[in-house]
Amino acid sequence: MSPELIEFSNVVFRFVHVLAAIMWIGNSLLFTWMEVNFIKDPKKNPEGAVGHMNMLHAGGVYFLEKRVIDPSAIPERLHVFKWQSYMTWISGAILLIMTFYTRPGTLMLDPSKTDMAGWMATAISIFSIIIAWFAYDLVWRSPLKTKPLAAITVLTVSLFTYSYWIDGFFNGRFVLLQIGAMIATTMSANVRFIIIPNQKKIMTALLEGKPHDLDAGHQAKMRSLTNNYVTFPVIFLMLSAHFPSIYGDPYYLPIVFVIGAGLVVIKHMMNIYNEFSEWLEVSIATFVLGVGAVLMIMFIPDPVVKDDKGLPIQMTEEALLGQKLYAAKGCVACHQPVSSSIAPSLVGIYGTKRRLASGSSVIADDAYLRESILWSNAKVSYGYAPAMPGYGEAFSEDEVSQMIAYIKSLK
Ligand code: HEC
Repeated sequence: MSPELIEFSNVVFRFVHVLAAIMWIGNSLLFTWMEVNFIKDPKKNPEGAVGHMNMLHAGGVYFLEKRVIDPSAIPERLHVFKWQSYMTWISGAILLIMTFYTRPGTLMLDPSKTDMAGWMATAISIFSIIIAWFAYDLVWRSPLKTKPLAAITVLTVSLFTYSYWIDGFFNGRFVLLQIGAMIATTMSANVRFIIIPNQKKIMTALLEGKPHDLDAGHQAKMRSLTNNYVTFPVIFLMLSAHFPSIYGDPYYLPIVFVIGAGLVVIKHMMNIYNEFSEWLEVSIATFVLGVGAVLMIMFIPDPVVKDDKGLPIQMTEEALLGQKLYAAKGCVACHQPVSSSIAPSLVGIYGTKRRLASGSSVIADDAYLRESILWSNAKVSYGYAPAMPGYGEAFSEDEVSQMIAYIKSLK
């Protein structure tokens, strides 16, 4: 397919995807909020209701009643919320196919870790998504279903182990998207295969005057509950392509799982804030501790760079200073060691022939690197937009030399 068409469909489907996700998650948050805030006192509730509330919006007061499912008490249209979820999944699947499965070599795989074929990467991604659903479903049907904490621990540990496995060949950016897609698929599949059908089952049983299946109710509840808790981590994973400082960190997987756990705790506090008076303190403490933990992991020294023979490469004093500048001046936000999607990777470029957008080429020697850092747009690399800021006088001569020394040391 032509790159222009891919790019255009990316615009269309990404927009639909974000919009549908806002509608889905928005509904989910509002329903959870209502569940938490309903007045449940049986004396105050209208006849037959288990909860009620008043909400001010759009120049009117909405009076809402919650009843248990009783088909005979629903004379008018019953609204079912499911298409927001299906549309999010469908547009997400199209995006995954059009953006990533068409270019597995550049966007999914990390050439410094593997020489796996593109079709293989695509196959692993697709099968993992399918298997993730069956594995998740199995856990909630197994004896673990009555022990939610144990079930969640098993699922989290499995996901963590799996993410280390795919980190062996995918680039960090795609690893995060892949686990995001896997969790999001279980969320939509929960709606499609468990929550909606089980609610229908209960309705039919009631209409026929039969006792309704308690397990169906329990399953629907557990699935809604896990969907509710993973919303924040999934949103984070879906946005993570914009956070190179996270996916570019050598310890990005522990970092992301710490963030995910923190978001689950914060969501839990939002769910129980009526019954738990210290919810705000716990949320703030989680935020502060989470940020602290992430920063601590980020400051763990990077693993030693090895040469072809597996021996550690000694960096010169100058290159080490360059490395610090490179991080401090934000070069790393665009120039990732492994991914070249935003800006060319600078690993191993010293002394090689660089193709330019103008059609000519140039050898990446000291003079070229100096010019590229200070006046980047003078020679724009082939295949990239002239998006690098012109640092011009922002760096001293010493600083430029240190950064060049660092780029030279990147092998
Ligand atoms: C906003 C993103 C961004 C930032 C920040 C950034 N760059 Fe770049 N850089 C680019 C892009 C895009 C290109 C390719 C287009 C071009 O050559 O101008 C590039 C090109 C380069 C090149 C030439 C690479 C080649 O393929 O020949 C070098 C060297 C370079 N950058 C070094 C740096 C250094 C050092 C810093 C930090 C002081 C930095 N960049 C910060 C986006 C960025």
